[in-house]
Order: sequence, then C-alpha cells, then structure tokens
Amino acid sequence: MKVSVSVLSVYDRLINAVKKVNESTADFLHIDVMDGKFVFDKKFPIEVLKDVKLVSTKPLDVHLMVDDYDTVKKYAQLMPEYLTFHVEIIKDYELIDYVKSLGIKVGLAINPETDISKLTKYLNDIDLVLFMSVTPGLGGQSFKEDVVEKIKSIKKIAPSDLMISIDGGVNDKTIELCKYAGCDMVVSGSFVTNSDNYNKQINKLR
Ligand code: DX5
Ligand code: ZN
Repeated sequence: MKVSVSVLSVYDRLINAVKKVNESTADFLHIDVMDGKFVFDKKFPIEVLKDVKLVSTKPLDVHLMVDDYDTVKKYAQLMPEYLTFHVEIIKDYELIDYVKSLGIKVGLAINPETDISKLTKYLNDIDLVLFMSVTPGLGGQSFKEDVVEKIKSIKKIAPSDLMISIDGGVNDKTIELCKYAGCDMVVSGSFVTNSDNYNKQINKLR
C-alpha cells in the first residue's frame, strides 16, 4: 500500500511537518489546496507551496479543492507528480488535457455524495481516482464507509493501471476497509501527523 501523508492538520507547523515527512518512509507528500468556494476554508497560497516544494524530498501529490479551471492551471505550475482536481467542477476534457500536456499525472477526486457515473467517461484518460471518504475541507473527520462499494464498482470497469487512492479518516482501523475495497494508495493526515513517530503510524497502514 502506498502512503501519501497530508500535512493539512499541521498547517501552522507546515515546513516542520514537511521535513518530518522527508525523514519518513512516506511515498508522497499530500498537499491540500482550498479556495474558500468549493470548500469553506482557504489555504495554501501558491507562494507557500513553492517553498514546500523546495523543502520536500518526496514527490508531491496535490489535491485541489477549488471550483474553477484557472486556479487548477495556476497550481499546475508546481509541477507535482500528481495533480488532482474534483470531477464535480469539470464539464469537458480541457483540464485533463492541459495537465497531461505539462507531463503531470492527472487525478480526479470524487466527493462522498457524488454519483460515480460522473467519473466513468474519464477513466481511460486519467492516472488516479481520489475517493473522498469524508466531506472535503477539514482533517480529522470520521471515515464514511459507503465509499467502499463505490470503489468496488469503479474497479470493475477501470483500466488495471488506474491508481485508486482514498482520502479522509484513514487510520489503523479504517485501513482494513481501504484494503478490502482494493485501494492502491491511502492519504492519511491526522493519524500520522498527530504522532511524534510518523514511521510507526505509516507502518500500520502498509
Ligand atoms: C480533507 C483533505 C484530507 C485531509 C485528511 O478534505 O483532503 O487530505 O487532510 O486528513 P485526515 O487523514 O485527518 O482525515
Ligand atoms: Zn486531500
């Protein structure tokens, strides 16, 4: 299981947390971006994330909770490994094609209440699906178990190399559901960053 560590819950000690992720066995650093429109909170400015990129030795897994194409294009300047935006904001292939043209892997995130039929037509054109197992916008929420059946349905029709990731409420208990659902990768925030020993927590998710 690949583990992507979200530093959202430690935004006040961001650079310190990024360094702790560097020292850990995490596969990716998960960065959450919120625009105050798609979700109520607003962070992080791109200037801050450019600093994060300079400090991070892990590939970046950027999750954009934003509601417009221009903001997605702006954050693509970070040139992360994965750039994930929400299926709820797209009407066509423009953003997928744009991000791919930059050589960045494309992810589509889907909220807990969104029907998976929104995703199906894009499955052959993207690299990753990020299933939200909480309402996006905040770390430390409880895992919504309904996501498991959604993942299983998508896996039946998805190309075998499509990366399936999950974000929200992932801990040493809910990881069993993520494995059962067939996830390739988990995003974990507070479960990892609330501990002094990131590796000990990451190992419980492998
Ligand atoms: C929530 C974010 C998550 C969040 C996960 O909207 O997308 O990445 O930081 O945090 P935990 O693991 O604490 O739910
Ligand atoms: Zn996220």
